[in-house]
Amino acid sequence: MTDIAAIQTLIDGAVHRDARGALLPLLHELQEEFGYIDPAAVPLIASALNLSRAEVHGVISFYPELRTEAPARHVIKLCRAESCQARGGAAIEAAMAQHLGVAMGHARKDGQVALEPVYCLGLCAIGPNALVDGRPVARIDGEAVTRISAEVEA
Ligand code: FES
Repeated sequence: MTDIAAIQTLIDGAVHRDARGALLPLLHELQEEFGYIDPAAVPLIASALNLSRAEVHGVISFYPELRTEAPARHVIKLCRAESCQARGGAAIEAAMAQHLGVAMGHARKDGQVALEPVYCLGLCAIGPNALVDGRPVARIDGEAVTRISAEVEA
């Protein structure tokens, strides 16, 4: 859990803005400052911007880049867009989840690795693709799953 007073200070700086227009920039500011949006911030944001908690939660859950868990030490973003799916992306995702012991869209409980979706990296012809800590990895096969898993466990 992040520091509630620090969250409130950041929110207070945003209350002068239009509520609906301020919400998304504020969520990005919170994530940039703390690494994620602590669920404890939702009622504070709702109160400050005169929105319902459901509205705030709805926006957070709509944007996949907004996190509600502390970021993991390593982040693997697997492409779920059409070309990578046609090249076996679903099987790669299942194998990666099994190797790492974490479901898509979550960080492992020990904080070592997170598995996140991404929708097209512009490398469609050489998929399935992923970003491993921001580094593009193409033509992922079973061997690459093993190699990437070992890399993020080190
Ligand atoms: S569909 Fe995966 S990189 Fe474009």
